[in-house]
Amino acid sequence: MTSVMQVIDIANEKERALIPLTEEIARILQEPASRRDPRQLGDSWAKLDRMRPEMRSIGNALRKIEKPVRARMTAAAYRAERQAYERARGFLHRLREWDEVERLVRRHVSPRRTPLLPAPQPTRRDALLTQIYEALHRLANPAVQDPSAVDRGCFADIALPIQPFDLLLSAAYRVALAQNPCRALRFLDVGCGGGTKVFAATRYFDRADGLELDPGYADAARQTLEKIGASKSTINQADALTFASYADYNVIYFYRPLRTEALLEALEQRIIETARPGTILVAPHDASLTVRPGLHCAQVDGPIFVTGIAQAEADQLRQDAEATCTKILGRSTHRSFDAGYWEPILDAASFSGDE
Ligand SMILES: C[S@@+](CC[C@H](N)C(=O)[O-])C[C@H]1O[C@@H](n2cnc3c(N)ncnc32)[C@H](O)[C@@H]1O
Repeated sequence: MTSVMQVIDIANEKERALIPLTEEIARILQEPASRRDPRQLGDSWAKLDRMRPEMRSIGNALRKIEKPVRARMTAAAYRAERQAYERARGFLHRLREWDEVERLVRRHVSPRRTPLLPAPQPTRRDALLTQIYEALHRLANPAVQDPSAVDRGCFADIALPIQPFDLLLSAAYRVALAQNPCRALRFLDVGCGGGTKVFAATRYFDRADGLELDPGYADAARQTLEKIGASKSTINQADALTFASYADYNVIYFYRPLRTEALLEALEQRIIETARPGTILVAPHDASLTVRPGLHCAQVDGPIFVTGIAQAEADQLRQDAEATCTKILGRSTHRSFDAGYWEPILDAASFSGDE
C-alpha cells in the first residue's frame, strides 16, 4: 500500500517535471509583444495543460490528508505529519492557481494595448490626494533651503504633484517591462528634496534612491525614509552635475532641479553621457508633463526618454510598452505560498491575468 509520504513524494516529482515546460513558456513571455510568437506560446501552453488531469487526480488524493492533531501523537510524529500536510497544501495551492496562470498566459497571446500616458495630458486631479501629498511633503522636509544651494542655481524643494508623478512612474515601469520583464530595477530621484518621491517609487521598483545637493534636505530625506521604514533606500548627498554613479540605475527621474536652461542642459548631458544605454529617463519640465525643448535623447512618450538608442527603437519600445500591463505585477516572491513550478511564468510576465 502506498503511504501518505510516498504520494506526496510522487506529487512533488510530478511538479518538478513541469518546470521545463513552464520555463519554455517563460522564455516566450519575456519577449516583447512585437517579437513574441503567439502560436508558439499557445502550443507550449497546450503541452503543459495536457498534464492538468493527472495533477488534478493527484490533488484529489492529497485533499484527503487531514490536519494532524497535536494532542493525539508524539512530538516527532506530529512534526512529520505536519510537514506532510503542509507539502500537500502547497501542491493544492499551486494547482488552484492553474486557471489564473492560464488567463495570464492568454493575455500575452493577444495583449490589449493601452497608451502609456493619457492624452490629452492630465488636467483633473483628486483634490484631497493632492492636498494630503503636499502636506506630507512639507512634513518630510521642514528644512530651509541652504544659501549655498541657492548660489549654485538650485530650485528649492518644490514637489511635482503626486498624480502626474504616478502616471509617469507607471509608464516608466511599463517601458522597463517591455525592455526585459525579468530584472530587478533601480530608480534614482535626482534632486530628491525630502525624499517623498523616493518612497513613492518603491511601489514600482525593487530599489529607489535619492540624490540631493542641499545638506539640510538630504538629512530630512534620510530621516523621512528611516521613519517610514524604507530601509533599502539610500540618499546620496552630492552634486548631480558631477555625480559619478548614474550607470547604477535603470530609471532616472528629475523634475527641474536647477533654475537656468544652461544648468539643466549640463545636467541632462551628464546623465545621458554617463548612464548605461537603455536607461529610462523621466524628465517632466512642469506639472502638465511638457518636455524641455533642448533635451536630446530618444523619446518614448511625453517626458519619457531612453538613452543610447535610435528614435526608431524608441518608437518600437513605445509600442511594446503599450502592450504591457497597467498594473503592478504580482511576481512569484509576492505570493503568500511557494509558487514552485509557476515561478518562471510569474517572473517573466509583462501582463497580469485579470485585465
Ligand atoms: C523642484 S525640487 C524636486 C523635488 C522632487 N524631486 C519632486 O519631484 O517632487 C528640486 C530639488 O533638486 C535639488 N537640486 C538642485 N540642484 C541639484 C544638484 N546640482 N544636485 C543635487 N540636487 C539638486 C534641490 O535642492 C531640490 O531639492
